[in-house]
Amino acid sequence: MLFITEKQPTSIAIGWSDPVCGREFHPLKSSAVHGALFHELSTLEEPGRAVSGVKGVRACQECLIRVQSYTASEKLMIALRRLQIDDLNAVHALISNMEVVRHMLFAVCSREESEKFLTESINESPSAPWRSVVRAIVSGPGGELVGLCGIVNLRGNSDGEIWYLINPELWGKGIATKAVRRQLELGFSEMSLHRIWATCLPENPASARVLEKAGMRKEGFFVKNLKIHGEWKSSFLYAILAEEWSESAQHPEVNC
Ligand SMILES: CC(C)(COP(=O)(O)OP(=O)(O)OC[C@H]1O[C@@H](n2cnc3c(N)ncnc32)[C@H](O)[C@@H]1OP(=O)(O)O)[C@@H](O)C(=O)NCCC(=O)NCCS
Repeated sequence: MLFITEKQPTSIAIGWSDPVCGREFHPLKSSAVHGALFHELSTLEEPGRAVSGVKGVRACQECLIRVQSYTASEKLMIALRRLQIDDLNAVHALISNMEVVRHMLFAVCSREESEKFLTESINESPSAPWRSVVRAIVSGPGGELVGLCGIVNLRGNSDGEIWYLINPELWGKGIATKAVRRQLELGFSEMSLHRIWATCLPENPASARVLEKAGMRKEGFFVKNLKIHGEWKSSFLYAILAEEWSESAQHPEVNC
């Protein structure tokens, strides 16, 4: 576990303990922390708090090198882009996986259903009473498709619901949080929405955490309002208003 031990405007010290052997390591002064990592830690974290996304770091030997390389791989840059027809394999791998859709309204999709979903997503449901904007979440130099997210907006209405899902092999790296922030940006800036909301099941705390980290407010609790895989489930409601987003977007800790 990596911790900020001291934070000053122009310097930072980090320390860590190895989760396997429990050995404590001496704080590392900012002079040894390279630019991007220093910037990330100093803008995001407070002293004494575990640094997000670096849980499970193994630092028995060559501590500095390991911390740096681990953090570099954690610092995944993501982007949202429109879906295209050759995304079918990647999309199907996600929405045919029960681990991914367990807490969602998505059925476990057959190849044909995935193809239909992809085609409709590319077309953004032109004739439906709602508009469904779906984006691929891509990451890495090759722009690998690592997840999907979307905003559903009743036409003529100025609020929208967001959803998101990530490849399970990449959970815990902050991808969903970054993607939600990008979705908020898309919803408020390009779609001119007034309010964006999301629901999440109590049995999906990772999703609740994502919404909180992205700056959304817990507004309520619905009792058995969603039929998920044939079972009525209760859900929390999270939301954020355009004015709250523009206020929070000025603070670096909310930007990604
Ligand atoms: C929910 C989901 C999108 C999160 O994606 P992710 O990229 O792993 O999310 P992030 O890494 O940005 O953040 C996850 C946070 O949840 C926390 N978390 C994970 N499991 C948790 C648990 N069981 N209890 C509490 N918090 C948990 C992580 O520690 C992290 O918080 P932290 O940064 O404060 O440590 C991902 O698990 C997923 O795709 N699930 C399947 C689809 C889904 O359920 N979508 C949401 C529908 S509402």
